[in-house]
Amino acid sequence: MNCDFLSYFIKPQQYSMPLNWHEIFQTKGKLAVEIGFGSGEFLVSLAKQQKDYNFIGFETSITSLVRAQKKIHSESLRNIRVVLADGRFGLREFFTDNSVDQVYTNFPCPWPKKSHRDKRFTNQGFAETLSAVLTLGGTFQLVTDVQWYAEEMRDVLLSTGSFELLQFNENSEIVVGTRYERKWLSEGRKTYTLFVNKVAHKTVERFTWEDDPMPHVHLNRADADKLVTLAGVVFKHNKGVFVVKRVYKCDEGEYLLRMVSNEDGFQQRYFISVEREKDGWLVKLDPDALAYRTPVVKFSVRKIAEVIGS
Ligand SMILES: C[S@@+](CC[C@H](N)C(=O)[O-])C[C@H]1O[C@@H](n2cnc3c(N)ncnc32)[C@H](O)[C@@H]1O
Repeated sequence: MNCDFLSYFIKPQQYSMPLNWHEIFQTKGKLAVEIGFGSGEFLVSLAKQQKDYNFIGFETSITSLVRAQKKIHSESLRNIRVVLADGRFGLREFFTDNSVDQVYTNFPCPWPKKSHRDKRFTNQGFAETLSAVLTLGGTFQLVTDVQWYAEEMRDVLLSTGSFELLQFNENSEIVVGTRYERKWLSEGRKTYTLFVNKVAHKTVERFTWEDDPMPHVHLNRADADKLVTLAGVVFKHNKGVFVVKRVYKCDEGEYLLRMVSNEDGFQQRYFISVEREKDGWLVKLDPDALAYRTPVVKFSVRKIAEVIGS
C-alpha cells in the first residue's frame, strides 16, 4: 500500500518545544490552526484558497487523522500538517507568542455535563492561550450549533480584555461547509458564528518549555514489592494529578507501570519502567511512550522512585 498520504502527520513529541514551524514547512508562510478538523473539508478548502499560509490541524481521532490526510494528499497540498493532540494543549505548547494569524474550530463537542467542563474550549485557559499565540489583529472563529456554547465562549474571550467582537451571528446558511454543518442545517436548525480579533497581548505559562530535563532516577536500593501496592493510587502535584492504573511485572527485576496524568484537563497515558541494573535500579519514562515532558509526567517518575526507594 502506498502510504505517502501519511506524510502530513507530525509527532511533536520528537521535537523540542516550541516547534519551529518554518523549518517543518520549509517556508516562512503565516500560520493558521484548526482544532478538531474532523474529516478535513474545511482545513483543505482553506489551504487551497490561502496558499501563502501554512495550516496546522489538531485532532484527537485517529480515524479523522487518516481520512483528512487522504484528502490533503489527493489535492497535492504542501501547506498543511496534522497533529494527533488535544488542540488546546498544542496551541499553547507548540507555538510562540504572537505567531498564529488565524485559529478556527467548527462544531466542537460542547460537553454539556458540569463534570466535563474542563474538556470545553470555553475555559479561561484556552482564552489565555489565544491571547498569547495570536498575532495582534489575528482572529479566532468558532462555528457551533449550540447557542449557549457560543455565548459562553464570547463571554470568556471578552472577559480577558484581549479581544474585540467582530461578529456574533445566527446562521441558517452554510458558513464552513463541513459534514456536521450540512447535517445540522438539513434538519432545519441554526448555527452560530463567533468571530473575534486580538487587540491586546498577554502571555501564558507553557508546561513543556522548561529546561528541567526528564528524570532518569538511579537508586542504589529499592523495594520493588511496593510497586504492586501503587495500582489505583492518585498522586497530586500543584499542576495536576497522576494515577498508577496498573503495574505489570514483565520479567525478574523489570516492571512497567501504566500511568494516566491530568493537567488542566489535558490527559496523557504513558508507561514508566522500573528495571534492575548492575548496581541498583533505574526508574524512567518508558522510551516507547510518546508522552509530552510535562511537570506532572516528570513528577510521576520522581515520585515512583521516591516511593520504592524509601
Ligand atoms: C463534532 S466533530 C466536528 C468535526 C468538524 N469540525 C466538522 O465540522 O465536521 C468534533 C471533532 O473535534 C475533535 N476533537 C474533540 N476534542 C478535541 C480537542 N480537544 N482537540 C482536537 N480535536 C478535538 C473530535 O475528534 C471530532 O472530530
